[in-house]
Amino acid sequence: MTEEDFKLLVDFHVNADRQGPGSDTETEKALSLTNLDFEKPLKVADIGCGSGAQTFALATVLEKTEITAVDLFNAFLMQLNLKAVQNNFDDRIITLKESMDQLSFDEGVFDLIWSEGAIYNIGFKKGLEDWKKYLKLGGYIAVSEITWLTNSRPKEIEEYWNAAYPEIDTASNKLGVIEELGYQPVGYFPLKQESWLDNYYGPIEDRFEAFLEENNHSEKAKNLVTQEKEEIKMYKQFKDYYSYGFYIAKKV
Ligand SMILES: C[S@@+](CC[C@H](N)C(=O)[O-])C[C@H]1O[C@@H](n2cnc3c(N)ncnc32)[C@H](O)[C@@H]1O
Repeated sequence: MTEEDFKLLVDFHVNADRQGPGSDTETEKALSLTNLDFEKPLKVADIGCGSGAQTFALATVLEKTEITAVDLFNAFLMQLNLKAVQNNFDDRIITLKESMDQLSFDEGVFDLIWSEGAIYNIGFKKGLEDWKKYLKLGGYIAVSEITWLTNSRPKEIEEYWNAAYPEIDTASNKLGVIEELGYQPVGYFPLKQESWLDNYYGPIEDRFEAFLEENNHSEKAKNLVTQEKEEIKMYKQFKDYYSYGFYIAKKV
């Protein structure tokens, strides 16, 4: 993708409440599967935070915790900072513009590493492997990752996802990867369909017309809308076969 393509993609998503499927309830559910003491001042990193949907959900439960929210794009971080000030979280949420494969964190510092709908940017296995060193022993990692919900599926959706993200797999295989890397899995659950349709795709569909007008119906804007529509169509047709799976694991 060119820099202009990235800018357009970020422009399309930056003012949304969230940049991927999910919900506060599911963020809280994943957090509850860790055995962390929420009353303590923990150190948390939220990698690929976007404009911070899950960052604020975490900060609301973890009242004494400092969260470092990392993203590659300044536009998302500026939006996150604005919301942090508006909601009085700015003393506990720090933003960091870095790539998730070149993090400048010290080793062994985090009680919890969080990443919703973002680890695919470097791959599930690589992300889990690279980030492990930043966790304390006994610390937790919680990531959501695109996952097949059944052992077999129609060829059309299999081909679509294999082309988009060949690391897509079943939960049992993903849990195997977690174990291979020396983590102890402590939980898995798939995101609900409402977390895709009501919280993510619905608001996207509502933005198409305004986005096209703002961009004078340029070819690039039209292509982006076409791609988003295709993704949504696929999800609506094949939603029984895939979702984001939430994986929670402990560094042992
Ligand atoms: C699908 S969005 C999810 C955002 C947010 N976690 C959410 O669920 O609303 C993926 C995020 O990963 C970020 N991202 C992409 N590549 C990245 C990289 N190499 N390093 C850090 N963040 C990256 C994007 O800017 C985007 O905010």
